[in-house]
Amino acid sequence: MRKKSRLTYLALAIAASCTSGSALATDNEMIKQGEQLFNQNCMVCHQADAIGKPGFAPSLTNPEFLSIASDKFFMSTIRDGRPGTSMIPFFYLGRNKVKAIVAYLRSHTKLPDRSAEVDAQPDAHGDPRLGEQWYNYICSTCHGANGDGYLAGGTGTAIGNPGFLNKVSDGFIRTTIKEGRSNTRMLGFSGSTGLANLSDQEIDDIIVYLRQLSK
Ligand code: HEC
Ligand code: HEC
Repeated sequence: MRKKSRLTYLALAIAASCTSGSALATDNEMIKQGEQLFNQNCMVCHQADAIGKPGFAPSLTNPEFLSIASDKFFMSTIRDGRPGTSMIPFFYLGRNKVKAIVAYLRSHTKLPDRSAEVDAQPDAHGDPRLGEQWYNYICSTCHGANGDGYLAGGTGTAIGNPGFLNKVSDGFIRTTIKEGRSNTRMLGFSGSTGLANLSDQEIDDIIVYLRQLSK
């Protein structure tokens, strides 16, 4: 009896180590497939290695972006696109192919995944009129009046667009404003190295203003 259970245990351990080995192999295959799919469907805009192009398409392999963007954000943004921008929907690729593309993008990860923590941050509260003043003063040059993005001629994305706002948490917006995205024109706006050193309240005022735009 005892011998048998030890054997069973051994067999289970071997089976487990085999599955984790082949799981790794499948991961690599998935990343490879994702890279091909990316090159076929996305590279024309997002560029090789998804580094983006100012005023044309954002970077999808930017470290700060990858660390705060959840799989849910990726899957639904790729599936639905951002109506009103050139980010078209890719629902026809189907879930598994989109998953492979996300695995490929994630293979560029350099920072820990903070998406759950960022999405769990409290909602923004503040004064949208003050937020609008800050927005027009600091953000509109790049993101356009009303957050219209590239359409308005700037280098920033359409952050007033419901296709963006409905897919992100206030924590995602807040962290992006505070920390920015390295090697893009989106600099951080908080702390002494920040472009404008906005206070937490001022940043929340801007978020509340953006939320109003999509209504
Ligand atoms: C015709 C050009 C074009 C193609 C093709 C395209 N995209 Fe985009 N994508 C964009 C633009 C432009 C934006 C930013 C839209 C905006 O202003 O908000 C974007 C935004 C995104 C975002 C959100 C990024 C962020 O910073 O929040 C993701 C994710 C994304 N695209 C993934 C993909 C994937 C994956 C593919 C291929 C399956 C793809 N895109 C194909 C133009 C494109
Ligand atoms: C100098 C130009 C510039 C300024 C000023 C600027 N941004 Fe950005 N912002 C960008 C760019 C460029 C990106 C996308 C990064 C990329 O292209 O990969 C971005 C991305 C963002 C995103 C993420 C959007 C997405 O599609 O995922 C948010 C949110 C954002 N900016 C908010 C702001 C706010 C709020 C302000 C004002 C306090 C601001 N930005 C000022 C250029 C700018």
